[in-house]
Amino acid sequence: MNDQTALITGASRGIGFELARCFARDDFRVVLVARHLDELQEAARLLHQEFGGVDIVLLPCDLSRPETPEQLYAEVDRRGLLIDALVNDAGFGETGYFTDTDMQTELNMIQVNATSLVHLTKLFLRDMLERNTGQILQVGSVASFSPSPCQAVYAATKAFVLSFTEAVQHELRQQKSAVTMTILCPPPTDTQFFQVAHAENTRAASHPASARAVAQEGYDALMDGAARSLPTLGAKVNFFSSLVLPDSVLATLMNTQLHAVAK
Ligand SMILES: NC(=O)c1ccc[n+]([C@@H]2O[C@H](COP(=O)([O-])OP(=O)(O)OC[C@H]3O[C@@H](n4cnc5c(N)ncnc54)[C@H](OP(=O)(O)O)[C@@H]3O)[C@@H](O)[C@H]2O)c1
Repeated sequence: MNDQTALITGASRGIGFELARCFARDDFRVVLVARHLDELQEAARLLHQEFGGVDIVLLPCDLSRPETPEQLYAEVDRRGLLIDALVNDAGFGETGYFTDTDMQTELNMIQVNATSLVHLTKLFLRDMLERNTGQILQVGSVASFSPSPCQAVYAATKAFVLSFTEAVQHELRQQKSAVTMTILCPPPTDTQFFQVAHAENTRAASHPASARAVAQEGYDALMDGAARSLPTLGAKVNFFSSLVLPDSVLATLMNTQLHAVAK
């Protein structure tokens, strides 16, 4: 029996749920975090159905609230849980010209995708460093690699996640720590992301990857202690393009993905 615990945000559906499946299959206790308790309960039912005696803890909470990471950390501590693996998956996007989109939605997005991710990392990484063991998976995006007209704030949050992750990875190596941090950069993936982001009719949404396959690649990279995971050839092309093409060209390419309505 594995006596390890993984905390996964955004675990009620999509990529986060599939990541929770990977941990449950490997006998981790899983702590599932998302806002809606009914969806978390359904996720837990599916995991119990597939993996029998898996130990599941549900912690419904809203990561767009600045106080949530501290409360979540305190609740985990109160329950006597040590977090061996932290997955910061919760996130969402919004689509449209920046001048047209709703400011509060975007402020919440920055809080969930970037600020809460940093806050949870700060809280749990310190404990991992003390024990000199632990794994953190940050969920970025192919949008981490370039400016994205029509998803300007979303892509900026994902670029932040990439920059933050790469800097802390460097620090962990300097500190000769056994704790690892991995970034998963999914391509467009078949989840509720595009509905939530009002981007169902964009070219980007037209040929999505499978959430299960994307999560499996991210999980394997995390278990290998890899720096990054780029599931699918498309994600790899996005990454390598960003190393050689100027941002203005990348922005134009992204614009064709998000602005044009898929035929
Ligand atoms: N799908 C793609 O094409 C794609 C591509 C690249 C990167 N990503 C990234 O992958 C991650 C997962 O997205 P997904 O595609 O699996 O989308 P999804 O199906 O919409 O799942 C998002 C998850 O995040 C949770 N969540 C959203 N807002 C939250 C909040 N305020 N507090 C706590 N939990 C919250 C949702 O549950 P509740 O609604 O119940 O809170 C849900 O569990 C995100 O970071 C996304 O940016 C997705």
